[in-house]
Amino acid sequence: MDLLKQIVARAQSDKQRIVLPEAEEERTLKAADRALQDGLADLILIGDPENIRREAEEWGLKHIGKATIVDPKHNPRSEEYAEKLAELRKKKGMTIEQARKLVTENNLYLGCMIIKTGGADGQISGALSTTGDTLRPALQIIKCAPGISCVSGAMLLLTHEKAMGNDGVIVMGDVAVTPNPTAEQLAQIAFTTAQTAHSVAGMTEPFIAMLSYSTKGSAKDAIDKQTGKSVYVIDKVKDAVAIAHEKYPELHVDGELQADASLVPEVAAKKAPGSIVAGRANVLVVPNLEVGNIGYKLVQRLGGAVAIGPILQGIARPVNDLSRGCSVDDIYYMDRLPGAGRKESIIPQPTKLSTQYENTGSQLRQQFYQVQVLRYGR
Ligand code: ACO
Repeated sequence: MDLLKQIVARAQSDKQRIVLPEAEEERTLKAADRALQDGLADLILIGDPENIRREAEEWGLKHIGKATIVDPKHNPRSEEYAEKLAELRKKKGMTIEQARKLVTENNLYLGCMIIKTGGADGQISGALSTTGDTLRPALQIIKCAPGISCVSGAMLLLTHEKAMGNDGVIVMGDVAVTPNPTAEQLAQIAFTTAQTAHSVAGMTEPFIAMLSYSTKGSAKDAIDKQTGKSVYVIDKVKDAVAIAHEKYPELHVDGELQADASLVPEVAAKKAPGSIVAGRANVLVVPNLEVGNIGYKLVQRLGGAVAIGPILQGIARPVNDLSRGCSVDDIYYMDRLPGAGRKESIIPQPTKLSTQYENTGSQLRQQFYQVQVLRYGR
């Protein structure tokens, strides 16, 4: 059975309760109808029930009746959610009035409160909201997975360069969340991105390159003329590698490495001889969000790679962010992909991946190309 079919079968046999807080939005409601028809998830739609029913009728959606609809304006649990939210955010100065306003007027906060109080397993949003607006309630309410303090986002890049990564598949983090991570946060991003590579991309042995513009001391940090201190760019990556070695000794992690030394064996032999990661990296950890976000989009747009994600990692429950340019299929498949459809988010569990979900890069690429064909063929 191929990976996509396995994921569908798993989703159907272990149904998750997923909140769609932007349910009145057309692509979201259409994707919800298909997910309900295929029995992929138990959906909780947040929105005006009248509007949802009218839209469903207008667009010929026959399965919306199977979903639970939560009307934020007339919600019998509003007060309970407001009290709990005010309590959670008390130290941050949130009043009960502010909490009431959030759970009745901001569906993303309401969705996170439904998850927090055990009413749902995860949330998918972003068709209408920016990444920041999608992430903020999740970070404030759902918080990090145990042992993690830095949430980040990974992208699966399915490239044509079969000699690199895992048969052309590369996992890159962080491309979505933390603008300028510290060395400690970078080490955590290495760990959680390796977990994503393992559990979502089926990489049984992640080789993690901590990227920089220097390879093993080939360049040095400049000194800031005003402060007289190092600008702490290359050194930050070196420190992150040292922290990762100490905290996660089971990981194959090395750096600082340039991208070519990470991926190309011939370059690695010259620039980083003896490195266990150089020349065979399948996980790339970038030094900051600018590099990650720009880098993956260049690989996608100029290199023709298929980019899947961002898959949020390190958060206690799966809350996934869609692009505002997403299609109905994007939302539908987000519901099926393990990054979104699992009850637990990617959390530190150094377990062996079940062979049921192991996959070669080419199988994985083929399956995701199928997804792309479905997306763009419509
Ligand atoms: N991990 C864990 N918790 C975090 C993180 C993180 N990376 N970042 C912020 N938080 C927590 C804070 O500790 C804070 O918690 P508290 O209020 O309980 O103390 C809470 O989240 C809110 O943090 P703020 O700093 O007040 O919120 P901010 O407005 O800075 O928002 C956010 C955080 C949304 C993640 C922000 O850093 C951001 O916008 N990041 C960039 C997102 C983005 O635009 N990505 C690019 C597009 S995605 C794409 O193209 C694939």
